[in-house]
Amino acid sequence: MEVTHTDIPKSMTLQEVCEELHKVFESDEVNIEYVQELLENYKSNPADWKKYAKFDRYRYTRNLVDDGNGKFNIMLLCWGPSNVSTIHDHADAHCFMKGLAGTLNEVRFEWPKEEGEENEEGMVETERNILKTNGVCYINDSLGLHRVENPSHSDGAVSLHLYCPPYSSCSMFDERTGKRTKCPVTFWSKFGKKCETRKS
Ligand code: SIN
Repeated sequence: MEVTHTDIPKSMTLQEVCEELHKVFESDEVNIEYVQELLENYKSNPADWKKYAKFDRYRYTRNLVDDGNGKFNIMLLCWGPSNVSTIHDHADAHCFMKGLAGTLNEVRFEWPKEEGEENEEGMVETERNILKTNGVCYINDSLGLHRVENPSHSDGAVSLHLYCPPYSSCSMFDERTGKRTKCPVTFWSKFGKKCETRKS
């Protein structure tokens, strides 16, 4: 069945965007263009998202905003100056990423040639994109791998990420060898509340 959507209103709050996303993801088919348009249309307003924007002094944080009834999830990532992710895949999920504050670099890579084996030439970079405030980019595993970095040495950055389906672990890759390691996806806060840190 073809899903039709009404015109996207010009000004929406983040809450309204999330409500619309719940409707969109009722269908099992993901309309990538529509989700992208919806996210592009949202004009970042810190009043909407500041309660989720929790930074850590050492590394970037993931802060859950909406668990999408288990079908998708939306989170805010808070990047301190010079914070960088690993090179990673997206566990067969759709990944939409929108800039809410600051500027991020997205660096894309090919999958390592022989999975599981060390790769002498290292990983091959294919593309570099700059994600400015209100910009949106999209990736899934068929488009390759990526790393996200905050290039600023003095300013933080905030991005909104939507994954469908949500996932709790993905693979990360060593840039020099292509070696793959499983890595858990953990949250710093959920729905505006800091998560307990596990004591070892
Ligand atoms: C991460 O969750 O570690 C990075 C976010 C992404 O690139 O999707």
